[in-house]
Amino acid sequence: MRVLAFAASLRKGSLNRRLLELGVSLAREAGAEVDVAEFRQFEMPMYDGDADREEGLPPGGRELASRLQAADALLLAAPEYNYSIAGSLKNAIDWVSRVRPMPWRGKSIYLMSAAPSPMGGVRGLWQTRIPLEGCGALVFPDMFALAHADKAFAPDGTLHDTALMERLRKDIAGFVRLAEAVAPLCGGHATAPAPVRRQVAEALENETALQPQARRQ
Ligand SMILES: Cc1cc2nc3c(=O)[nH]c(=O)nc-3n(C[C@H](O)[C@H](O)[C@H](O)COP(=O)(O)O)c2cc1C
Repeated sequence: MRVLAFAASLRKGSLNRRLLELGVSLAREAGAEVDVAEFRQFEMPMYDGDADREEGLPPGGRELASRLQAADALLLAAPEYNYSIAGSLKNAIDWVSRVRPMPWRGKSIYLMSAAPSPMGGVRGLWQTRIPLEGCGALVFPDMFALAHADKAFAPDGTLHDTALMERLRKDIAGFVRLAEAVAPLCGGHATAPAPVRRQVAEALENETALQPQARRQ
């Protein structure tokens, strides 16, 4: 089972990248093969319908779409900006949502956030679920928001709070097990019989009806 992983922050000292690294090591411990990307590889201009129609996706968007298509699941650490999803991440979701088949559709996603605040970015995570689920992703029910993240990490990259560390380990192991179970139906290399895959795809395909016609990649 192949998992793409990235933190949606460009900052060198990103707390979300530190949390992502921890998540990646726990996903590997649970048996996943993980492709770690840098958000900078997915840099894109603001979504522009004219540029989309005339030129299609910018290179950063194509890179994210193809890395997603090659994966069964996504581990995403996303900062909260002004009580919501960071604009750069929403912009990336929107660009990639123009590709057909929809790269987000059927992807199992585990959401994490890290913030120095006592809320840990959980409000942003609730906002991040919305466009991803709208695009047909299977966002794992539990999410992990790390409060006081500037003081939470031990020098070895684990969490000082051992109970919290165990919760994350258990949660990510559960996510990997569920993603493994659904990957044959709707993962990047789904192996279930074609009629079953089509049935799942059609059931998750809401976004295509809402959007203007998109090109196939
Ligand atoms: C524009 C902006 C808005 C922010 N809004 C919030 C917020 O609503 N809630 C919060 O907990 N932290 C907020 N923060 C602080 C971020 O949680 C903090 O900068 C965090 O370290 C960003 O993630 P990173 O370290 O991965 O870059 C905001 C930061 C910026 C730059």
